[in-house]
Amino acid sequence: MMVYDLIITIFGATGDLTSRKLLPAFAKLYGEKQIPEKTKIIALGRRPYTDESYLETMMQAGKITQGEEILKELVTYFPMEITEEDGYKPLVSMVESLKHQETRELYYLAIGPELFPIVTKYMNQSSLVIQGNANQSIVFEKPFGHDLESARAINEMLWRYFDEKQIYRIDHYLGKEMIQNIMMVRFANRIFEEIWHNRSIKNIKIIAKETEGILGRAGYYDQSGALKDMVQSHLLQMLSLIAMEPPLSYFSDDVKDEKVKVLKHVTFDKDSLIFGQYKGYHDESNIPKDSQTETFVFLKAFVNTPRFKGVPFYLMTGKKLDKKESLIIIEFEETSEQRKWNLPLSTNKLYIKIAPLDGVGLVLNSKVPGLRDDVEEVELEYCIACHAVGNLSEAYEKLIKDITGHHKTLFTRWDEIEFSWSLIDHIKKYQKEPISYQDYEDLKPLIQDLTGELMP
Ligand SMILES: NC(=O)c1ccc[n+]([C@@H]2O[C@H](COP(=O)([O-])OP(=O)(O)OC[C@H]3O[C@@H](n4cnc5c(N)ncnc54)[C@H](OP(=O)(O)O)[C@@H]3O)[C@@H](O)[C@H]2O)c1
Repeated sequence: MMVYDLIITIFGATGDLTSRKLLPAFAKLYGEKQIPEKTKIIALGRRPYTDESYLETMMQAGKITQGEEILKELVTYFPMEITEEDGYKPLVSMVESLKHQETRELYYLAIGPELFPIVTKYMNQSSLVIQGNANQSIVFEKPFGHDLESARAINEMLWRYFDEKQIYRIDHYLGKEMIQNIMMVRFANRIFEEIWHNRSIKNIKIIAKETEGILGRAGYYDQSGALKDMVQSHLLQMLSLIAMEPPLSYFSDDVKDEKVKVLKHVTFDKDSLIFGQYKGYHDESNIPKDSQTETFVFLKAFVNTPRFKGVPFYLMTGKKLDKKESLIIIEFEETSEQRKWNLPLSTNKLYIKIAPLDGVGLVLNSKVPGLRDDVEEVELEYCIACHAVGNLSEAYEKLIKDITGHHKTLFTRWDEIEFSWSLIDHIKKYQKEPISYQDYEDLKPLIQDLTGELMP
């Protein structure tokens, strides 16, 4: 029988994550020879599919238009009840028959966290995964719990069965091109390195706006809300990359050590907290009529390190806003000449654009061309997508490639999660009834009244 260099076993292979993200990423990586030629994907599900009917269903569900032939070659559907111990013996036999001594094995838990305890227990008891075997990795997705206590419980359970080096916690934001690029922009540019501190930076805005509502995810979203869904993970990850000290190296643990130091020093201004809920949220199916879950959150945070003490970090995220946009804006102080010459006080800004188009923008002051002596803002813009046609990778492709290569920089370490949950739990104590908003225009004046800041 054929043996493989890479075996990827997906738990929850009939779900949304697998159809929309994982299968397209595997097909692309394989097509571009970024994963071994001898790769096998074992898709586990409890429904009675054949290989063909499984792929057909998933192609439709995930609107997958490319890579069908590749997926036909790679994927084997394996019907199994993952919550029953009996199912594991045949799976172990199958995997054993497909691997050699050096085979890289990925076990992707594309299932809700409520299934982790039972599934990881049986993975361990059946010897499907042996604790400490560096060739075997466990991959799973946020949410990493719903508060500090539940996150700790999940983590302790994982550490009971696997070593930390085997565990890959995915926050897919970290796989986005521009998030990876934040460290390059910061540390590989003298012009920024010299001014990256509270004497030059006026404030930092970290924004993730969406136009959609909850898209039928009532069960998850109503228990979570914007603070837990977005701030705990994506926004605090961005904040820590922006505020950290230069790491000793680009290697995983050095970077994470610095990010954790930042997270330990984050405080927030409880008087600036805004919670909002879009009008019509209660009409979404399966949302209780009295739900107080926030679909918008704004907060002013501080990073109390010598570098950033006193600089406000404005964090904002929400649904049903004016546009889909994720970006970070670093606003610099005015120059003393601007004040002396009485020039319009427009400030320099560095835009780190994450979605929908990744890129960097730098706003400068420049003389209006021609006979007038006025000053105007101009933006120097670098758009990654415009220059990298065909080469841009989706977040999941990058993350999966890194797992196969044992690179952990873009994955979350337990202490990052621990300190971010600790902050979120603290903020939660000040949670107020959400303000009802029709659109973003209802929220902007509130933010301005509270902070004096005009958010874009
Ligand atoms: N979808 C995304 O884009 C996304 C993004 C970030 C994180 N995540 C996280 O990734 C995980 C999976 O998300 P998803 O969107 O793919 O969820 P989903 O569409 O609900 O799929 C869940 C999968 O788990 C299986 N499952 C559920 N209960 C089971 C049980 N008792 N026994 C056996 N199998 C069971 C389902 O099988 P059946 O089909 O047989 O029910 C399905 O294959 C979740 O933790 C989610 O929060 C998802």
